[in-house]
Amino acid sequence: MISGIENLFSKNANNLKRSVIRELLKLTNKPEIISFAGGLPAPQTFPKEELTNIVDEVITKDGAKSLQYGATEGDEMLKEEIIKLLEKDGIENLKMENVLPVTASQQALDMCAKIFVNPEDPIILGMPSYVGAIGAFRSYRADMIGVPLQEDGMDMEILEEKVKKIKKEGRKLKFVYVIPDFQNPAGITMSEAKRKKLLELAYKYNFLIIEDSPYRNLRYTGENVPSIYSLDDKGYTVSLYTFSKIFAPGFRLGWIIGPDEIIDKFVVAKQAMDLCTPPFSQRIAAYYMKEGYLKKRIEKNVKLYRKRRKAMLDALEKYMPKRDDISWTKPEGGMFLWLTVPEFVDTEDMFYKAIDENVAYVVGNAFYVDDDGSNTCRLNFSYCSKEKIEEGIKRLSDVVKQEIEEKEVK
Ligand SMILES: Cc1ncc(COP(=O)(O)O)c(C=O)c1O
Repeated sequence: MISGIENLFSKNANNLKRSVIRELLKLTNKPEIISFAGGLPAPQTFPKEELTNIVDEVITKDGAKSLQYGATEGDEMLKEEIIKLLEKDGIENLKMENVLPVTASQQALDMCAKIFVNPEDPIILGMPSYVGAIGAFRSYRADMIGVPLQEDGMDMEILEEKVKKIKKEGRKLKFVYVIPDFQNPAGITMSEAKRKKLLELAYKYNFLIIEDSPYRNLRYTGENVPSIYSLDDKGYTVSLYTFSKIFAPGFRLGWIIGPDEIIDKFVVAKQAMDLCTPPFSQRIAAYYMKEGYLKKRIEKNVKLYRKRRKAMLDALEKYMPKRDDISWTKPEGGMFLWLTVPEFVDTEDMFYKAIDENVAYVVGNAFYVDDDGSNTCRLNFSYCSKEKIEEGIKRLSDVVKQEIEEKEVK
């Protein structure tokens, strides 16, 4: 091995940390473990039969185009379908120049950091936040500043205080990153009032909003809340979407919408990254949408996940010790809920005990940019069957009980 390799790595590379989730997930691979750890869609939602026909159709009709290199700006047929989809969600007047297909949202997150962040530039994230976004922003050495989440989204008072502080220090806040719908990891949805307040602050202090919306189409209860993009009439929002949770993550396909001059910068950045999003996948997704399959698929996903969400909430109610310092969120959609246990319980220590009892979760601290969240964890309810969910929550509740008893005796 070459000696002193760390001196050859760039500062950015030396700043990279292995994802805690990936490290811990390695321990959850045993078949006897009921895992609430991953963020995986249920495999039975994958549209295998429909795709077999569509792949055939794309090769027969558009083989020459879809198997060739494509434009960085993306497949026009797919962009037209995306525009139609978003129109139904209250986003009007989108032009082709406002839409950019990407190699799923993770690439979009990397590009956001790439085009907006110089090392040490401040950006703000709701805490807890999506671990993949934290990783992407960290790799460009952003100064990540956390703002706590409340039941209805980011605490707007603390946000304004932090924004003012950054301004006072003579620094430029680049963006505020939010996941307004059924947030990963906490399952929280930002209220319409807070979405409007966030826009008001963005206009006042001149920062961008990155709205990451992978779960927006997965609502199981409650009323739809307008997207931040649809409420923004001044072009301060860039929104990220993905097919991963409503179609198949293996496609690695998503899209960004935003003002023309920002999308233009994303296109140039993307050229240097992968030239283009796979044209074959884009064309398959375009047919899938055009032929009405996506809508049906979303309906089926919602039906399945609604039952699993209920199974998890019911099991928590039934098995978790009843104490004021144990609580969990009740998400209206998405794939995750957030469990808080007594402050003296460290969910990282408890993780190994949970693995011994054949149940897994993700430790809450992984979703923070500081040392917070040590008594919290994320539970996924989309992947396991209802029966496994009940059994897994029973096991987890026992582990929590034992942990409390042990700690309280000491
Ligand atoms: C909030 C959020 N953003 C982005 C992603 C990345 O998704 P993908 O790269 O599969 O589109 C995820 C995946 O779990 C997520 O939860």
